[in-house]
Amino acid sequence: MLNIIKVSNDQQFNEVGAGIIAGLLQSNPRAILGLATGSTPVGVYSHLIELYKQGLVSFAKAQSFNLDEYIGLAADHPESYRRFMNEKLFNHVDIDLMNTHVPDGTAADPEKAAQEYTRMLEDAGQVDLQLLGIGHNGHIGFNEPADELQANTHVVELKKDTRAANARFFNSIDEVPTHAMTMGIASILKSRQILLMARGASKADILARALTGPLTTQCPATLLQTHPNVVVLVDEAAGGRLS
Ligand code: PGA
Repeated sequence: MLNIIKVSNDQQFNEVGAGIIAGLLQSNPRAILGLATGSTPVGVYSHLIELYKQGLVSFAKAQSFNLDEYIGLAADHPESYRRFMNEKLFNHVDIDLMNTHVPDGTAADPEKAAQEYTRMLEDAGQVDLQLLGIGHNGHIGFNEPADELQANTHVVELKKDTRAANARFFNSIDEVPTHAMTMGIASILKSRQILLMARGASKADILARALTGPLTTQCPATLLQTHPNVVVLVDEAAGGRLS
């Protein structure tokens, strides 16, 4: 089932996104959160921090698993997704850092680290809510368009357009890592509920393709159509081609 929530401004976007996460934690303090990085969820995390400060939500018993991480960036690198999560959310709420998981971008054997991440996810049980952004090429996590997609956490070579899109956070495109580790499509689809978030006109076409186009590995987000419980949070511009 697809439930589309269209909001008219950033504040509503952040309030609704944070409200969905907070509501889950209120009903299930031990929830397992699947978290995402990128510019889209930043305001949602900020609003969650506000809700935490107001005493409306606690992460004390929650666990989190992030979708992905760049290969080669240490946890304290300014653009690592571990650092992003610490700075944008974890350091400001009562989550136990031991219960937060981000793939290890500096593992000596990334393939083995990917298998280990899959095992940790399976041991933890089902992710209750998986947050997702969407890339302009239809990627979710770093599952890039390809002839074949991987089920579980794996190492992936980033597409040129993905590196170009993310170059805005680095001094130049050459500094953007060429590889990443990402949860696979099956890991994502296993979660109880998915919250797909998109903002801005540049996401309108790919979002419409993802949600209404034919299923194809060339647009990995189309596979979300097979999930029974997807909430799509969009602003007017990103949702412009959705009815
Ligand atoms: P964005 O990235 O939130 O920065 O647009 C989304 C993504 O690439 O998954």
